[in-house]
Amino acid sequence: MGLLATLLEPLGPYYAELQKLGTPVIVVVGVLTFIVLSVVINVLNQLLFKDPTKPPVVFHYFPFFGSTVRYGMDPYAFFNSCQEQYGDVFTYVMLGRKMTACLGPKGNDFVFNGKLSEVSAEEAYTHLTTPVFGDGVVYDVPNNILMEQKRFMKFGLTAETFKSYVPLIVEQVEDYTKKSKFFKGPKGTVSLSAIIPELTIFTAARSLQGKEVRDALDGSFAKLFHDLDMGFTPMNFLFPWFPFPSNKRRDNAQRTMAKFYMSIIEKRRKEEASGVDHSDMIWNLMGRSYKDGTPVTDRNVAHMMIALLMAGQHTSMATITWMLLHVADQPKLVKDLYDEQVRVFGNGKGGIEPLSYEKLSECTILNHTIRETLRTHPPLHSIMRKVKAPMHVDGTNYVIPKGHYILGAPGVSAMDEKYFKNPHVFDVSRWEGQKTEEEGEKMDFGFGMVSKGTASPYLPFGAGRHRCIGEQFANVQLSSIMATFIRNFELGYPEGCGVPKPDYSSMIALPTPPCTISWVKRDP
Ligand code: HEM
Repeated sequence: MGLLATLLEPLGPYYAELQKLGTPVIVVVGVLTFIVLSVVINVLNQLLFKDPTKPPVVFHYFPFFGSTVRYGMDPYAFFNSCQEQYGDVFTYVMLGRKMTACLGPKGNDFVFNGKLSEVSAEEAYTHLTTPVFGDGVVYDVPNNILMEQKRFMKFGLTAETFKSYVPLIVEQVEDYTKKSKFFKGPKGTVSLSAIIPELTIFTAARSLQGKEVRDALDGSFAKLFHDLDMGFTPMNFLFPWFPFPSNKRRDNAQRTMAKFYMSIIEKRRKEEASGVDHSDMIWNLMGRSYKDGTPVTDRNVAHMMIALLMAGQHTSMATITWMLLHVADQPKLVKDLYDEQVRVFGNGKGGIEPLSYEKLSECTILNHTIRETLRTHPPLHSIMRKVKAPMHVDGTNYVIPKGHYILGAPGVSAMDEKYFKNPHVFDVSRWEGQKTEEEGEKMDFGFGMVSKGTASPYLPFGAGRHRCIGEQFANVQLSSIMATFIRNFELGYPEGCGVPKPDYSSMIALPTPPCTISWVKRDP
């Protein structure tokens, strides 16, 4: 016992605490021995048994944890340093999972366009998304059903619906800034982290989801949305089923929100009988059937609505925040964007016409600002698939075994000097004269023609069968919000503030709060 105590002395205060708790010394020694042995075996295994048919493994001391902390703190710094050391393809351990990162345009293609027989998105994401969206949709169904569901959702994302969305979004932003305590007086400062999450959900809800959902956000729905949102934590990648209080609240919120959507559907059905017409997504999803004749149930519709709300919220919220932060950082860009509004929407009498969907596409500087924001800060830094059958990596001897995960990070190629000059500079002018149409091979996976993105280093909306269907809606939402801010405010930074660093603690690349900018009303 005396010898053991001497050996454990270096643990210092921790050992004293363990003694106070009455932990038997032998248990402490056992645990320590186990840890030391597993580290030694793990290190020797990496040094002595390199398998040339598998991608190189990122060196790590602790089995199971592997590179979790390095990846979690700053995924891009991790990817860049590993890319330098091991090349575009390497495997790292993250909480017991073997993740093979595939970087560069070829890596993007490998992940996004993996064959259905070889990769599965649903097996990579379902444990995280199904408790939040609900069953029977997105990653809780076979891929062919997801493709049909994406087709249904796309019917509600047309130019016709977008035309009606623009004034609704503008109204939400103006109403919000008029009432908000952060915009009192002729000038001031505002924390974007405090207002943009609300503005994003209000604008998406009012346009895409309908008036009932927007109105409900002023009441109990806001709390439910928050509880559901808390289901999307990195922790839930591992323990989605664990009865944490947050997971119980998530499940309750999911059930209550689904009931709320179903009650709207019921109401719409009655209105339909009396000839009332709506143009939002619920209306569009109602009464559809799958190819085999199975009707889309009300519960399916409710769960798809939740999925749409959640899929767009974080991605758009992150993008609009980063965009405002970069614009505020460049007084010339603020001026250029305002002049563009006057040029495109000027009525010839010194006034500006209301925003319209038709003319938003003429606002090239605004559209390039969105593109540059998505290049420098794509919200989804990691795209994952589970490997279902061994996959050979073209041009190498590597075969990625079944059971591993492959990971794409198009944000790495979008910030690579090889493809974008001075990649770390936020330069809207780099997009001048560039085609906005996606080039390269296109394919229909069941929800319309989409690019396979095979040649592109810039893929913020993904590519292939899982490509985003919300891109046009996001563009409408982002450009309407940005243009409304620019029309109403001069933007800048308070003394000593600037564009903050990214924060990777949630699953999206967000700027570190509070993200304070300054504003001056153009027409106080
Ligand atoms: C898929 C990005 C907004 C709905 C994706 C994917 C990306 C992406 C990268 C592919 C994921 C993968 O391959 O695993 C973005 C960005 C957005 C945005 C950057 C905004 C700036 C939206 C919005 C909606 C939406 C507003 C809904 C209206 C979806 C859906 C999928 C998807 C349904 C398909 C998932 C699948 O097939 O697996 N998005 N998204 N997104 N997104 Fe978006």
